[in-house]
Amino acid sequence: MNYRIKDSDIEMLRKAGVSEDDIKHCVRVAEKALEIAQRTGAKLNVELIGRYALFHDLGKAKTHAIEHGRIGAELGSQLGLPKEITDIMEKHIRGGLTEDEARELGLPVKDYTLKTLEERIVIYADRLVDIITEGIVDIKGDELEAERRFKEILREYPKYGKNEITLNRYLGYHREIQGMMKG
Ligand SMILES: [Fe+2]
Repeated sequence: MNYRIKDSDIEMLRKAGVSEDDIKHCVRVAEKALEIAQRTGAKLNVELIGRYALFHDLGKAKTHAIEHGRIGAELGSQLGLPKEITDIMEKHIRGGLTEDEARELGLPVKDYTLKTLEERIVIYADRLVDIITEGIVDIKGDELEAERRFKEILREYPKYGKNEITLNRYLGYHREIQGMMKG
């Protein structure tokens, strides 16, 4: 279960124009996703988890708007990244949109469902890292607090829960992944 984030991958983000702050976020999400993967005890493709997480915000090289998912995927394929990695860049927006939500947000209408546990762990880790690092929620210096209070935090802070559909999607990932840790 050992995977180390590659310096060459970080360099790729930097060369593409991703800011140092955004790179720091991507690395933290990768570390958190790998930690969670390990805690589930499941047999998982850890290299994919690390790279999904590291590249998920590649599009922020160009914009922080909601289009950064689609733009990241385009950029990633120009850089020669495998399709499964460019797919997660496009799908990570709000953790896997329904067609209705995509339509509402003016994004291409297609299937954004997160099909693998590797993808869902990365999306869950992304949300946790935001909660842990943004300083909006006082988690009292204990990262696990973000997991323990996940449901309550998403309900209380629209920034994290967004709306009922998004909130329930994230709670579904939370239940699934936490369930594996206990099992
Ligand atoms: Fe993002």
